[in-house]
Amino acid sequence: MEFIDLDLKSYYRLIAPRPTIIVTTISPNGEVNAAPFSFTMPVSVSPPLIAVASVPSHHTYQNLEQTHEMVVNIPSEDILPELWTTGEKFPKGVNEIDKAGLTQMPSVEVSPPWIKESIAHMECRVEKILECGDHNLVVAEVLKVGVREDALKEGLLDVELTKPILHLGGKDFVVGDHRRKLDE
Ligand SMILES: Cc1cc2nc3c(=O)[nH]c(=O)nc-3n(C[C@H](O)[C@H](O)[C@H](O)COP(=O)(O)O)c2cc1C
Repeated sequence: MEFIDLDLKSYYRLIAPRPTIIVTTISPNGEVNAAPFSFTMPVSVSPPLIAVASVPSHHTYQNLEQTHEMVVNIPSEDILPELWTTGEKFPKGVNEIDKAGLTQMPSVEVSPPWIKESIAHMECRVEKILECGDHNLVVAEVLKVGVREDALKEGLLDVELTKPILHLGGKDFVVGDHRRKLDE
C-alpha cells in the first residue's frame, strides 16, 4: 500500500475519533454558555488536571479567561443532536443549554451549571492558559466529579450502556459502544 502526503492543516483529522465534551462556562454578568469541544485531554492525575484547546474569539474562551471556571460534561449518543445545537453560533449572552432543550443543574464548587442529561460532569477551575497557534490551551483543575450511578462497569466507563460520542470531523461522529479486552 502506498502512503500519500496529507495537507498539514488536516493532521488532526487523523487523531480521531476524539472524545467529545460539552463545556459550560459563565460570563462575569452570570450568562451561561455551552459549547462542544473535541480538542481535550487529561494531563495530570494528581493533581487532577484536564486541558481544552479553545479558539480565543469564542465566548467559552472569553468566559474562561474572565471567570476561570468551567464544567466538563460528558455526553452520550442520546443527546448528539442537542450537542450539535450547542455548537451553533449564537450571540453572546444566549444560553445554549436552553437553546438545545437540555437541563442545567447547579454545581457545588463552581458557578457554571452542569448538564443533567450528560453521563458525567467535572467541575473545574482554570490553572493555566497557554497561547498555542490558532487555539489557546486552557488547563484546569478538576474539583468535583459526578457520574451517573449506572455509567461504570468494573471501574471503567460502560460504553455499551452510555454510548459516548467521539468526533471524526464536521457532522461525522463515532459512537463508542464496543469494548474489546485483550487476552490475558
Ligand atoms: C463536535 C465539535 C467539536 C468542537 N471542538 C472544538 C474545540 O475543541 N475547540 C474549539 O475552540 N471549538 C470547537 N468546536 C467549535 C465550537 O464548539 C463552536 O465554534 C461554538 O459555537 C463555540 O461557542 P461559543 O462561542 O459559545 O464558545 C467544536 C464544535 C463541534 C460541533
